[in-house]
Order: sequence, then C-alpha cells, then structure tokens
Amino acid sequence: MQRLVIDGEKKLSGELYVHGAKNSALPLLAACVLARGETVLHNCPRLSDVYAACRILTCLGCKCVRDGDSVSVNTDSLSHFNVPDELMREMRSSIVFLGAILGRIGRCRLSFPGGCELGPRPIDMHISALRQMGAMIKEDHGILDCDVGKGLHGAKIVLSFPSVGATENIILAAVTAKGSTVIHNAAREPEITDLSRFLNSCGARISGYGENSIYIEGVEKLSGCDYEVMPDRIVLATYLSAAAVTGSELTVLNSRVSDVEAILPVFEQMGCIVCPYSDRIYISAKRSLKAVKTIRTMPFPGFPTDAQAVVMAALTKAKGTSIVIENIFSNRFRHVDELLRMGADIKAEGKVAVVDGVNFLSGAKVRATDLRGGAALVVAGLGAQGTTEVSDIKYIDRGYESIENAFSSVGASIKRV
Ligand code: EPZ
Repeated sequence: MQRLVIDGEKKLSGELYVHGAKNSALPLLAACVLARGETVLHNCPRLSDVYAACRILTCLGCKCVRDGDSVSVNTDSLSHFNVPDELMREMRSSIVFLGAILGRIGRCRLSFPGGCELGPRPIDMHISALRQMGAMIKEDHGILDCDVGKGLHGAKIVLSFPSVGATENIILAAVTAKGSTVIHNAAREPEITDLSRFLNSCGARISGYGENSIYIEGVEKLSGCDYEVMPDRIVLATYLSAAAVTGSELTVLNSRVSDVEAILPVFEQMGCIVCPYSDRIYISAKRSLKAVKTIRTMPFPGFPTDAQAVVMAALTKAKGTSIVIENIFSNRFRHVDELLRMGADIKAEGKVAVVDGVNFLSGAKVRATDLRGGAALVVAGLGAQGTTEVSDIKYIDRGYESIENAFSSVGASIKRV
C-alpha cells in the first residue's frame, strides 16, 4: 500500500498551478456520450476518477484517448448501455452517466450500491426527475434498469434540494429531449455552468445556469467540440490551506476568484493576506492564525462542503475556537479522529465540530478516510512538527494530480513510498 511521508513545518514558497476540476471533468466526460463524432476536453486532470470515467466510456463502445492534458472521446462506435458494476462501485458519481446514456441510446442499465464514505448517497431526486421526463426506471437490488420508451420529453422539475448530481443528470437528459425543461431550485455550482457551456458548444440550448432556475430547449442532436475544463476550486482551497497552516506565502495560478468568493474571506478572518488577481491568487500567512467564528457548509454560492476538511486542518492551529457546521453530508467529519492523533483539539458531534486551536501539531501515522479528509491530513502534516505518514492515499489520488509533486515543488518535504 502506498503512503505519503511528510516532514512538516517546512516553509512553502513559489507558485502552484491548479489542475482541471474533477467535479467538472466527470460530468463533461459523461456529456460526451450525447455528442456525435469527436470531442476533445483540454485541461482534463490525471485522476483515478477521470480514468474510471474513461473506462466507462470505453465499455459503452466509445474511443477514449488521453493525449497529454487533453482527452478525446469519439462516440461513433457507441453501442452499449450497460455500466459494469465494478466501475459503478469504484466511483459513486458514475450515476451522472445515466442521463447522458438515456438521452443518446434510450436504454441504460447500471448498479447503484448506495452509501459511500460520506454517508448515504441517495439518488431519489435523480430518479424522480428522470421519471417525470418519461424514463421508466426499475430499481431491483441496487440495479437500475431504465428505458425511455418513446423518448424523453421536457418537464417542469422542482428540486427539493439543489443537488449537483441531480441537476447535472436532468440537464444531460433534457438537452435532446422533446420540448423544453425547466429546473427550479437547481444547483448553482460553477461545475453546472461548465457543463452547460460545454453542451451549448455542442449545440444545446441551455440558459439560466448558475441561477436558481435553468431552462433547456431540446434539440435534435449534439456534435462534439473542443472544450477547456475549468480549474478545480477545491484543489485551490487545499493549496491556500497549506499556505495558511505552514505560515507561508504562495501564488496559486490558474485560479478563478469567482469560484471561491465564499472561501477567501475565511482565510482573511484567519489573518492571512489574500490578494486575488484575474487568474491567480496570492496568499501570505506570515502572522499566526486566528480562529474564525463559524463556517457553515452550504450549496453554492455558500462555503463548499468539499473545502470543509482542508480548511479545518488549517484551523487546528488557529488561536481561539472555530465552529464548523457541515450541512450537506451526514458523515463528513471522519478526518477529525485522524487529526486528533496529530494533537488537534476538536470535538465533533452530529453536524457540528468545535475546533480549539493548539500551538502545534505532532506528526503521526494517519489514514485517509475519504478524498477531502485525506487531503486535510496532508495539509495538517505539512504544518505538523516531525513526520506524518498518510496511508490509504488511493482516496487522495481520486481528486489530486500527484499531490506530493505539487507540494514538493514549493519546498515541502513530502514523498510517496
Ligand atoms: C457533488 O456530489 C460532488 N461530486 C461532491 O464532491 C460534492 O461534495 C457535492 O456535489 C456537493 O457539492 C461530484 O461532482 C462528482 P449532491 P453529489 O447531489 O452530486 C443529498 C468531492 O469530494 N441527495 O449535491 O453527489 C445527498 O445525500 C465530492 O469531490 C439526496 O438526498 O452531491 C447529499 O446529502 C464529494 N438525494 C446532498 O443531497 C438525491 O437524489 C448533496 O448531494 C441527491 C442528493
């Protein structure tokens, strides 16, 4: 089993580059199923989840080839509608292929075993919306067997919660459905905007994305195009947290300030100097960190749940008491126990974690519990005295392109063994 070994408390300096967003690349790769001919996605990150999505495309009969930072997908030989069980298990978010496969082929069969490391991952909103659009979906022992019959048609859908995945699945099913679809209480995350812009480049007619209501006019067919995947806003938050916890100054390139407007004020409250420019963000954490009053994770444009763990890792050394409230997932404090092994002082109960800053963290052997929890342990290790060993780093590789090379390039002592 691979591990990351970190000798902490090294000052970081220099520039880091934010790679393409995992949570945009995945729905974009699913969306390629809808486009005839060839699509090329640039700035497509080298992540195990992206590789899993490419394997799903290959299983469907598409040609999926990586060429440097770009991935090309050709759907001319698309012929299957079955997503293998092992691939569904490997990546919960494969559910987003459902809408695209139904839109292109009209049939889809995939397993959805439900829970994952963050707690239950229900898909009730996905299913009920697709049924509203004419899909017949049979659920039996975790297998979804779907058929669109005479074809999908537009519908007026009101989401009870602005679910990112449900919004993506509905958009993917609606772009070639008959008639128009409106999604009220839609997710407003930047990845939804990225998906909508991509689909419009393929010939779709989507408007209102980024707002509460999204409008889609069904079109006959979509054609492949070239598209650049947006930068990963959570990787950006991770790099900012590493600068904060090590008292460093860093410039983070390929940053989109509009994606992190709820995150930057938190670093300023911690006492960091944050200077956003058009495509980069400078951060300096020269002074010791101060606790922040309360962080509540919320749907975009609120503070993102995916940044909760890495920011908490920085808060463990912030003087005073910070309150972190996790409103999105029911089991997203699993990194707390591991941070306690490093000397952090955190009390987590239900959706609230109380973080009392300590003067220093001590290196320890810790285990990644999930993707962002694992990244939080790397951040804590960078800011801890002594050596930290992080195991189960397969979780981290799902969302970070060689995290050890990134941090080594700015002076950290971190290596993969
Ligand atoms: C996406 O997951 C992201 N994953 C998650 O990032 C992110 O944390 C989440 O959105 C929230 O921003 C990808 O984009 C691949 P949701 P998703 O549907 O779509 C409940 C990471 O670390 N819900 O917005 O699954 C659900 O249980 C990952 O990169 C239902 O109840 O998130 C959760 O409590 C982790 N029924 C809440 O809504 C449904 O039908 C938010 O889920 C769907 C969701």
